[in-house]
Amino acid sequence: MRKLLLLMLVSSTALAGEPSADRQNALRNMLKHDCGACHGLTLKGGLGPALLPEALAGKSDDFLADAILNGRKGTAMPPWQQFINRDEALWLIKVLRNPEH
Ligand code: HEC
Repeated sequence: MRKLLLLMLVSSTALAGEPSADRQNALRNMLKHDCGACHGLTLKGGLGPALLPEALAGKSDDFLADAILNGRKGTAMPPWQQFINRDEALWLIKVLRNPEH
């Protein structure tokens, strides 16, 4: 019983937080090619608004994660929740806020 609980704790921490290195590469690729198709290859904006740090300042992680996961109804922004989970969306937002890292 103890062991099972420990196992559950370990696997849930493995799921939360930062994506694996491989997944981070896949997400960066997606940001450039999929998101970049609308937000611009350099994320300066296009069909979608700029996703540069200045543009995101003052907008909360929750607000932005909601836009990414659920899309924005009535706009071209599609929902991405079939492809990425909330932790991954939050990680992408962190990358957008700190493009050099
Ligand atoms: C088909 C075009 C399209 C694609 C592809 C797309 N977006 Fe968007 N996105 C938009 C549009 C248009 C808006 C503005 C919606 C609005 O007017 O509220 C938007 C809004 C957003 C916002 C909210 C910005 C803000 O300032 O409120 C975020 C964050 C965002 N997109 C991230 C992403 C990410 C990350 C991806 C890739 C996983 C992505 N988008 C792919 C069109 C797109």
